[in-house]
Amino acid sequence: MFGRRQRETPMLRVFEFGVTAVLAIIATACSGSPKEDLSASLDPNSAPLAVVYDSYFPIGAAVMAGEYGVSFTSNYDETTLSQFNSFVGENCMKPGVIQPTKGNFVWSHADSLVAYAVDHGKTVRGHVLVWHSQTPNWMFASSGTQIERKEHARGEMLAHIDAVVGRYADSLYCWDVVNEAISDSSGGSVYRTESPWFSAYGDASYITDAFDYARAADPDALLYYNDYSVCDSGKRSRIVQMINDLDLKNHGLHGIGIQAHWNLQWPSVAEIQATIDTFHSMGLDVQITELDIDCYNNSSQTTEIPYASVESALTERYREIFECLRDNKDKISQVTLWGVADDHTWLDHMVGGVYDQDITRKNYPLLFDADRKPKKAFFAVRNF
Ligand code: XIL
Repeated sequence: MFGRRQRETPMLRVFEFGVTAVLAIIATACSGSPKEDLSASLDPNSAPLAVVYDSYFPIGAAVMAGEYGVSFTSNYDETTLSQFNSFVGENCMKPGVIQPTKGNFVWSHADSLVAYAVDHGKTVRGHVLVWHSQTPNWMFASSGTQIERKEHARGEMLAHIDAVVGRYADSLYCWDVVNEAISDSSGGSVYRTESPWFSAYGDASYITDAFDYARAADPDALLYYNDYSVCDSGKRSRIVQMINDLDLKNHGLHGIGIQAHWNLQWPSVAEIQATIDTFHSMGLDVQITELDIDCYNNSSQTTEIPYASVESALTERYREIFECLRDNKDKISQVTLWGVADDHTWLDHMVGGVYDQDITRKNYPLLFDADRKPKKAFFAVRNF
């Protein structure tokens, strides 16, 4: 439907960038718009992130596609998108978004993202097939025996994965198959037992089903387990235990998605390195799948801070993180930022670890500012 999965060749990418920069400069000269519109292009080291990191790993970004009525193609300009060579739908491929009611699939937003990516030689990550959040209640039986509830949920999971993974089998190269299935606390179950999937199944076997069904729907796709706080040693250990107890590698698990919703202080570079090494030593690929930096350090303070007060700390934080990631380029296959610019970040509604869209506290977690201009952190990442 969308053509084969694309991978740009480095020379093509450099050539494309050169043409883009020249055209952009000509366009600006003609349009008379202020030079700062092209700061990323006119900067002496003006290659986009994707080009600079070509010998390290692809640089991806989560993008809006359909949220709040905003279409993907109308929301981002070419200069911004040229920074990245991979995209992931921030919400458009989530169960409750792409199949809000049984059998009613909303393909248009995901299709527009995939079509753009294929047309521009970019890759697309699939996010997410099985998750406790943004998943519609109709996928679960409201009553019945445990066996009946399990079989109902299993049937809906199979149908969903078969439809969604099957549709994009020729255009998505990987999927976050299961998201956030592990408990945040030690001493109890390894698993997030309050997940409707765990509740319907009565155990964690929904996880192996999800990987089996995704592998069957697209045998070529790379399959990931994705989670947050993976650098927390206790949670990391529980994830390792899940992978071993469920024998997930024999159910198609290819790698671990470290979400990387980090902050100015946590995790340390040493903890990041230990986490990468842990999963690499298990023969698993590692991806950074949702990188952003909470400038409030996960605090519950409601008073907003000015960006100027954290700009230096954020710049240094991005510098040290990407230095570590570059040092691990042989263990990391992609780094994806959870957003493009500070004008749209979920962290504006994440206060003290609680996500509430009715609460807004301006955050500054990404490489481009609210006007989509590159921040000092962008140059710290690119001009290494
Ligand atoms: C977030 C999106 O950014 C928000 O727009 C949405 O309202 C809630 O979900 N971990 C994940 C992502 O795997 O899917 C979440 O994305 C952020 C946490």
